[in-house]
Amino acid sequence: MSRKITFPTGISTTSIHAGEEPDPVTKASAPNIVMSTTFVTEASTGFSARGMEEDAGWVYTRWGNPTVHQLEVKLAALENAEASVALSSGMAAISALLFHVLRAGDHVVVSDVAYAALSEMTNDTVPGLGIEVTKVDTSDLDAVKGAVKKNTKLIYIETPCNPLLRITDIAAVADIAHKAGAKLAVDSTFATPIATRPLDLGADFVVHSLTKYLSGHGDALGGAVLGPKEELAQLRRTVGIRFGAALSPFNAWLIMRGLATFPLRMRAHQENALQVARFLEGHSKVKKVIYPGLESHPQHELAKRQMKNFSGMITFQMEDGPAAAEVFARELQIIHYAVSLGHQRSLLFYLPTDDMLETSFRLDTPEQRESWDQYAGKGVFRFSVGLEDPEDIIRDLELALEKCPGGP
Ligand SMILES: Cc1ncc(COP(=O)(O)O)c(C=O)c1O
Repeated sequence: MSRKITFPTGISTTSIHAGEEPDPVTKASAPNIVMSTTFVTEASTGFSARGMEEDAGWVYTRWGNPTVHQLEVKLAALENAEASVALSSGMAAISALLFHVLRAGDHVVVSDVAYAALSEMTNDTVPGLGIEVTKVDTSDLDAVKGAVKKNTKLIYIETPCNPLLRITDIAAVADIAHKAGAKLAVDSTFATPIATRPLDLGADFVVHSLTKYLSGHGDALGGAVLGPKEELAQLRRTVGIRFGAALSPFNAWLIMRGLATFPLRMRAHQENALQVARFLEGHSKVKKVIYPGLESHPQHELAKRQMKNFSGMITFQMEDGPAAAEVFARELQIIHYAVSLGHQRSLLFYLPTDDMLETSFRLDTPEQRESWDQYAGKGVFRFSVGLEDPEDIIRDLELALEKCPGGP
């Protein structure tokens, strides 16, 4: 029985079949979960992973595991990447990438607004290791060009970025990076490979929090770095194995299970988000709505060019955000007032500007602050539109909005 697929497959088939094969012994159609931490080896197997080849037999699950490997093959196929390394969370993947590429004395350009833990890590942890960091609004290509130095090794962007949903032109920034002899890494968690494949646009690395859309059900943390085979083999041998952030095989299995319906889910996320965004845009108590799929998004043209699917993330602003947050947390019946995103359940959370600028984001120039204000005002509700019936999501919002202050 051979189940090797010999022809190129579409994204739905890839999501279901890539990396998976029926078990050769039991003929089980669904993947096994191999929970063993250790594997019986040859007498010649080394005790250090230093010289480990990518196709060596399994030794120890922190080095590699058959279930995790199946997920890695699937992710690489989805991103059109040569290889992928799956780790225990999105932040583990981001840390592994930064510490694989950067050394003391190097310089890195980072999006001034990106996922909060990455922002905070590049505000203090990374500079503390003697690595110079410059934060710029990476949607401003002149700012990116101006930030590049002789010792720039990496430009790190997130698009659309969390929480603003501001978009960066990947191909243009890849060009700037490569002319400067640097690499480009893209956190594509919000876009997903259904919308955008950064490697096809010239990026060198992609990172994902698998915790979000790729697994899709809010029950498994995971992360991945994708890129060239040789680089990733080296990343696995060093930071991947030594930092110890191995992905549990059980989580790898859950994420693979989520990926089987990933293209279907992304289609539904987009459809629901567009309906909800239009509803919010028409509501008298809502000040501003940002969604890449709306004509009113300041970068809608770039979004149309770079994203084949606008994903399910919306932000919106209210006159009195903190008071509205109280109402939403108390009144919403379907939508969970909670952090995270990309789940089947709708999730809403308020991010006040003053707090975010104190804890996470450093905006040094008036232009950076102006861009923040354009997208976020005094604070935004970050809304991950789920897969419930769109009319129910809207009804839930409508009822809660009636109790919010403001409006006529
Ligand atoms: C864009 C983005 N990147 C990375 C992360 C970190 O992922 P994890 O929570 O899996 O570590 C998040 C989490 O919210 C995120 O939104």
